Amino acid sequence: MPLTQALRIQELSPEELAVYRSLDPARLPEHVAIIMDGNGRWAGKRALKRFLGHQRGADSVHFVVETASRINLPYLTLYAFSLENNLRRPRAEVSFLMKLLRNYLTGNVKRMNDNNVRMAYIGRTQDLPAEVQETMQWAAEETARNTGTTLTLALNYGSRAEIVDAARGVILHLLAEAQRRGCTIEDWIGVGGLDAVDEDALSRHMYTAGMPDPDLLIRTSGEMRISNYLLWQIAYAELYVTDRLWPDFRGVHLLEGIAAFQGRSRRFGGLDTEFSDESLPDPQMPELVR
Ligand code: FPP
Repeated sequence: MPLTQALRIQELSPEELAVYRSLDPARLPEHVAIIMDGNGRWAGKRALKRFLGHQRGADSVHFVVETASRINLPYLTLYAFSLENNLRRPRAEVSFLMKLLRNYLTGNVKRMNDNNVRMAYIGRTQDLPAEVQETMQWAAEETARNTGTTLTLALNYGSRAEIVDAARGVILHLLAEAQRRGCTIEDWIGVGGLDAVDEDALSRHMYTAGMPDPDLLIRTSGEMRISNYLLWQIAYAELYVTDRLWPDFRGVHLLEGIAAFQGRSRRFGGLDTEFSDESLPDPQMPELVR
């Protein structure tokens, strides 16, 4: 693994390499999630049609995935199409995005295989057009044996919908468990069946089951919003918002986001290690009581 990694690092551009060398390889994130925003504004600034912004955005996807795979990032999850996009965007834009997605998948499977990238999806993908689902499945199967970066596209994805789906899954599991034991659901709850409904159970029913939570969430185009993305999973993620619009985002900017992440102190609700019980003042001390 270290040899493979060293070889792939040599494939970084000089600009990327300069940022990469400033990173601590022992503290690279395991999972980076990105809200790819600003395609429309990128096009608007150039008096171009919105769809050209999306097209350039698809090029950025390729560049960023390639850099992620070169640094051996285990998981990269991209917000490509939200439930809200599906419901609220003009039909012509939605079908353009669907076409772009299919083209992206068909045109990039070879590159994904060259880069050892495995495709996965999260979202209510069963509601996407049949031909899109077929291409998605094909790309997932073609890349299933790859062991490098898992590229997950969030498609027809909404985080609240995901939590609802997970809750439904947990309820069905509870009912099945009662049935398996030959008792009613009330009886099963009466003897502690609800104890199995905990954070781990919900996580296991999320679309992201089996993946680590994102360590870093990047959002492009400067908006300070989460936009219904991975609400459950980003509980302790570091947030990095850049004004750069998605079509201008490249691998080097991913590395800059990782550098910012490494500059943060992650406490997960605890304290920095330099603080110990002894360094805390006695709450009964008069100067604090005053
Ligand atoms: C936001 O731009 C982006 C999207 C709605 C979807 C992201 C889609 C892509 C990056 C292109 C295709 C992706 C793949 C995987 C092939 P926006 O239209 O909301 O921008 P705006 O806020 O500036 O209007």
